[in-house]
Amino acid sequence: MAEVAITSPRPAGGAPSPRAVAANAAAGANDHHNSSRPCSASALRATSSPLPGGRPGGAADAARLEALCEDLLARGLDGASSAAAAEAAAAEAAAAAAAPKSAPAPKSAPAPKSAPPFLPWHLRAAHHSPAAAAVLAAFGCERLSHGGPAALAAHASALVAAHRGGLDDTAYVYDLGNPLRLWRAWRRALPRVHPFYAVKCNPEPALLRLLAALGAGFDCASRAELEAVLALGVPRDRVIFAHPCKRASDLRFARDAGVELTTFDTASELHKIAAAYPGVDLVLRVRADDPDARVPLGLKYGADPAEAPALLALAKALGLAVVGCSFHVGSACRNLAAFEGAIAAARRVFDAGEAEGFAMRLLDLGGGFTGRFDAAGNVVFGDIAGAINAALARHFPLLDEGEGGAGCGVRVISEPGRYFAETSATMLTPIYGSRDREVVVPVVEGGGGGAAGAASAPSSSSSSSSAAAAAAPTTTVVAKKDYWLTDGLYGSFNCILYDDQRPTAHVLRSPLLPPVEQQQQEQQAKLYPSTLWGPTCDSADYIAKDLMLPALRNGDFLLWPATGAYTVAGACDFNGIEFTCPRKFYVCSESAVDDDGGHPHHGGGGGAGHGGAAATAAGGGSEGGAAEQQQQQCEGA
Ligand SMILES: Cc1ncc(COP(=O)(O)O)c(C=O)c1O
Repeated sequence: MAEVAITSPRPAGGAPSPRAVAANAAAGANDHHNSSRPCSASALRATSSPLPGGRPGGAADAARLEALCEDLLARGLDGASSAAAAEAAAAEAAAAAAAPKSAPAPKSAPAPKSAPPFLPWHLRAAHHSPAAAAVLAAFGCERLSHGGPAALAAHASALVAAHRGGLDDTAYVYDLGNPLRLWRAWRRALPRVHPFYAVKCNPEPALLRLLAALGAGFDCASRAELEAVLALGVPRDRVIFAHPCKRASDLRFARDAGVELTTFDTASELHKIAAAYPGVDLVLRVRADDPDARVPLGLKYGADPAEAPALLALAKALGLAVVGCSFHVGSACRNLAAFEGAIAAARRVFDAGEAEGFAMRLLDLGGGFTGRFDAAGNVVFGDIAGAINAALARHFPLLDEGEGGAGCGVRVISEPGRYFAETSATMLTPIYGSRDREVVVPVVEGGGGGAAGAASAPSSSSSSSSAAAAAAPTTTVVAKKDYWLTDGLYGSFNCILYDDQRPTAHVLRSPLLPPVEQQQQEQQAKLYPSTLWGPTCDSADYIAKDLMLPALRNGDFLLWPATGAYTVAGACDFNGIEFTCPRKFYVCSESAVDDDGGHPHHGGGGGAGHGGAAATAAGGGSEGGAAEQQQQQCEGA
């Protein structure tokens, strides 16, 4: 269950100095704390996030930043050769970005203290996309040379120090470097497939805005998600209302907003659509399960492919337009065969639709992809990309190879959620309560200390004599620890229940606590079976039991890498605790891993070995599968 390897984080190359972080904290940059807005509202309502310095970052700000980035690019200021001119332009851009909306930015004004850092690195990090660079600047991203757990722990430690005790609740560090890398890798690995990010996975405004800037489409499941995406100015042809069973009010909203595309999988939905929004283009979702997917979806959604002809005939009878076919193999897919089979099934639906007289032109591959990095920080796609490309070539061949996807008359999209979101975020949970317990457990024959032998101490001594053996203790006392964390099953850790995730904890000792006394250091380093409790009054609200952790103090933190998918998006505010609006910080790393290169930053088990104790919550285990074992490198970082 628990692999404990390490102690406190070491400073990683490129992590900002506490002083730099303190300066930013004082200026309000990079620290997006939402406590001023009502937390019952979901993060969706905050797509217009504050720019550093507290101003709302609306479309006009984004456009202005983007124009400035374009200008910088046009002047060729993304290299060291023109560093002085770049600095001047950057100061100008920063001044413009930080100036009040009503006041025109003075041409030669020096950058005010609260200005976001707006240097050419944004453009380089964003692969020369001015729109994406503008998003990095708008969210006040700090540049990190490395984004592995050790580098993030060092950054978090600096944040904790800079906030001088003010960071006493759950916080997230979003690393926008990872979705940038994942976007580029996707386009290379699956050039025919246009990703439509599944907003449900994490509606974090920075993620939505970055992906919108890169050209992604969006898969929305409700009115609120549609509103969030449309508010960003995403064109209608990059939006799909991919909920096969829509609430009436959501459907009316989609109609009024002119959303062009939606899915269905039942006759009842067809009748509902015929009554409320007959003009929308329809995509038939069929069932195509990977039985080994971590979260199978087929029990609830997706028509049996055998039902397709009848559903298509009904759509025709109702005067509706079916334009394509979709499926979802299940979240965190493990079998390549699932995609191959699903694409073949979609071909049959296309044939049936065309026979019915529909102009079938959209294939939607759904979600199920996992975004991963190898030890060198390269995005790892695995054979899934090869399998999809081959199946597309077979069942939806390009008429004119070399046209870069044009020519087959079918637009191919997908709905990845976890792929982009998971590694984009690291959660920080302070420990705010603790307790030592001595628990009597039965001695396990030949095994030492019962349930958690590592920390056990026998209750009485025994000898080798038979008399003594007869009197050998049958129980032993184990020293256990309880810790209370600021997040639990009602918060981001709902992912343990609903998404079968096993987040990995890394110990982050608070830089604000006095150093541990020399004579206590050994005790502190020892591992104890520990229970991690969530903060609500519900006794079922625990994150892990008997997780082997070193001794921690109130004020220390646990850091949870790769917790960006299906975490805060599913939280509620039970007990009045504001789980749904954690504090947020933004960085952009240049590499997805630490500078020792050995510790990929991805979800699931593992994670030890970089300078902080690591242990996997919710019972451990890894999520290996066929796809994972057949990984292949897709792109250099
Ligand atoms: C319709 C639909 N599309 C896309 C997704 C995203 O899936 P994933 O995060 O596995 O990519 C989901 C997840 O539940 C979904 O229901």
